[in-house]
Amino acid sequence: MIEKDFLPEPYNQFPEKGTVEWKAPSNIALVKYWGKKKHQIPANPSISITLDTCATKTSLSYQKKTKGNQFAFDLYLDGEPKEDFKPKITTFFERIETYLPFLKEYHFTIHTSNSFPHSSGIASSASGMAALALCLMDLERTMLPQMEDSFFKRKASFLARLGSGSAGRSIDGGLVQWGHHEHIDGSTDLFGIPYPYEVHPHFNNFHDTILLVHKGQKQVSSTVGHDLMHGHPYAENRFAQAHTNLDRLRTVLATGDLEEFIKLVESEALTLHAMMMTSMPYFILMKPDTMEIINKIWTFRKATQTPICFTLDAGANVHVLYPESVKEPAIQFIQNELVEHCENGHYICDRMGDGAKKIIQGNR
Ligand code: PMV
Repeated sequence: MIEKDFLPEPYNQFPEKGTVEWKAPSNIALVKYWGKKKHQIPANPSISITLDTCATKTSLSYQKKTKGNQFAFDLYLDGEPKEDFKPKITTFFERIETYLPFLKEYHFTIHTSNSFPHSSGIASSASGMAALALCLMDLERTMLPQMEDSFFKRKASFLARLGSGSAGRSIDGGLVQWGHHEHIDGSTDLFGIPYPYEVHPHFNNFHDTILLVHKGQKQVSSTVGHDLMHGHPYAENRFAQAHTNLDRLRTVLATGDLEEFIKLVESEALTLHAMMMTSMPYFILMKPDTMEIINKIWTFRKATQTPICFTLDAGANVHVLYPESVKEPAIQFIQNELVEHCENGHYICDRMGDGAKKIIQGNR
């Protein structure tokens, strides 16, 4: 599919008012996206695990306006007006208006809330943009009722991606691949697709315990970080490596080779942070406790042969990954040795989830 395929046919009905509500999950990348081109096109393909517990719920109430010459919306986070989020939503609307030409026809009231604490250091942009994109698609579907489910999801992912790249991976469940890769059928830079190949049962119900090492605001945003990949001395090698790692991961996912999985996933996490450390200006998002946790995971793994590993997002928090079969010892280890490195002892037990869900529909 190409961008043009997401331009709608003319609408022949505009509902007067209504409310839709969706819940969209967060995701954690195994092969990371870091660096992008114009229009949120990723510099390299990536793959992520859709999470279950960490999610955003968004309700969108819409009311037809008499004049349709500008965007009009109110935004609430946990029931409180959230003025400082509004520019981000306006930018999002500007980017997607071509594909949703009804946007200026309505006044929207957006209520959003995250299952994870706002200042947990967990990015809410992926789940937040995905939930909003799904609400908007739901409204578009009332105008184009013939729309197929598969198209609905693709376009939701396409729109979410224009809000925040990784949000395009927060629609489907399980493993989601985003970005063109010559050996992955159906892969595209435009939207995320469910990973299309065999996945060994070892990876069913995979766990991700998120250790909240640092809950404050990051010193460098993802937007700035992506930008610093332009002219980065290692960028081309890094982008090529992501392609190679996706090839390797395909074999790992099919065979259930956890040893290779661990090597690949940890190397990806450290490479992401290596790119940050070698940007100009350079920056470090890991904290001393991030390093302590990583070292403890390596020691524990070596001593017990438990297939447990870590990955990192663009921040100091550590995602501890392990299969269902070692859940008990892994949780025990996390509680005994890792929780002391979390801010106020906070961590979130999450796992692979089955994707975004609609909550309600109907007029209010
Ligand atoms: O979606 P963005 O623009 O916030 O970028 C997120 C990039 C990483 O989370 C660091 C990696 C990834 O692939 O999710």
